[in-house]
Amino acid sequence: MARNIIVALDVGTSTVQTVVAERRKGEDGLQILGIGNIPSAGLRRGVIVDLEDATSAIKQSVEEARRAAAVPVRSVWLAVGGSHVSVSSSRGVVAVSRADGEISPEDVRRAIAAAETFIPKNPNREILHMIPRDFRVDHEAGIKDPVGMHGVRLEADVLVIECSSSFLKNLLKCVEGAGLQVEDYIFSPLATAEAVLDKRQKELGVMLLDIGGGTASFMVFEEGAPVHAGVVPIGGNLITNDVAIGFRTRVDVAERVKISCGSCLPHEAPKRDTIHLAEFLEGEGASSAREETCSRRELAEIIEARLRDIFELLQKELKKIDRVELLPAGVVIVGGSSLLPGLVEMAKRELKLPVELGRPHEFLEQLNEDMAPSLASVLGTLKWAGQRSFVAGYGWVGRTSPRLGSKAWAKWLKSLLP
Ligand SMILES: Nc1ncnc2c1ncn2[C@@H]1O[C@H](COP(=O)(O)OP(=O)(O)OP(=O)(O)O)[C@@H](O)[C@H]1O
Ligand SMILES: [Mg+2]
Repeated sequence: MARNIIVALDVGTSTVQTVVAERRKGEDGLQILGIGNIPSAGLRRGVIVDLEDATSAIKQSVEEARRAAAVPVRSVWLAVGGSHVSVSSSRGVVAVSRADGEISPEDVRRAIAAAETFIPKNPNREILHMIPRDFRVDHEAGIKDPVGMHGVRLEADVLVIECSSSFLKNLLKCVEGAGLQVEDYIFSPLATAEAVLDKRQKELGVMLLDIGGGTASFMVFEEGAPVHAGVVPIGGNLITNDVAIGFRTRVDVAERVKISCGSCLPHEAPKRDTIHLAEFLEGEGASSAREETCSRRELAEIIEARLRDIFELLQKELKKIDRVELLPAGVVIVGGSSLLPGLVEMAKRELKLPVELGRPHEFLEQLNEDMAPSLASVLGTLKWAGQRSFVAGYGWVGRTSPRLGSKAWAKWLKSLLP
């Protein structure tokens, strides 16, 4: 009997992560069979700058996971992120089609599709998702699920997530160049949210924040639906560069120093606590740097300064939607840089909101707990792939949904609307 194998791939600036999983008959959830987690190449701020290097990194990551899983891998579900992603709003209005005025799933689909006509055409932009935030039936606003209601005019307020078409073409080329087919793709924070947020948090109001190597991406949920999202071009790699410049050392040394001794809380780092850079040098140069030292406090000050830039930009994003200090479920942080000690305390102080680290709950028993926050995006992509219906739960229109027949569309929409 053919096994139901699902593979998720997240091509990040720092790491390329692959998870191979299986849906077993009669079992709930997905069984992880293998993980590939290798350093990335050919990307800058989430954007591919070298096709050959990126293809080779994808090949290695998938191979690592495939070998551990001991199953063939032919196709993957992809997370899409990067500083080229943009977010905007649009509105679509349609007349309700049935004579008795009852709104059908098809009317909802038409209203969302109508919103697409107001998006300025740009040959280098591709729509990733059209996510309805809210509907208005005649003069009644704030409606989450209009299906079955009566009215004459249906208006959809839609969150539009677009990315660069060239980026997407390059990414698909790399994945295909690695000998894999692409099943579908999803904006990474949308998938990540699926793995780490619960319904209650999304209802109350929450920000999912993924601080990776080249970018920090976020998505804000309220009343169960995404209301805002974005990608900030600052991540852990810039922190490493700052450390390298500050301590006049190589980037690879700075990275090891950051990971072993870094923190975001300078006041908690003793001033006299010194780090000997030679301990972090490998091979040539180790002897010449024998005397070089830096203080833990200085290191924490450098890290804190760059993170403050990220939180300032996020505060501006919250201001755009009038939610500064106003998200009751706070901020949930994931991504490799979320492992920096003291990040939660710092984020609480800077954003004046409750903050916690995100954990991909469903997969925790199958994972090394320490790794969990950095695998959130690929695991979210896996969950999305394994359970397409969740997408509908958010009412978003993905790449595949417009291709559904009207019956399938109705089922999809019903199951998904909050
Ligand atoms: N233990 C750790 N402490 C501090 N930082 C860490 C730790 N482990 C990883 N990082 C940092 O996390 C970053 C990589 O995170 P991640 O793998 O989530 O990035 P990515 O997904 O490849 O990048 P992006 O999403 O921005 O394209 C690197 O900058 C790395 O230095
Ligand atoms: Mg990432």
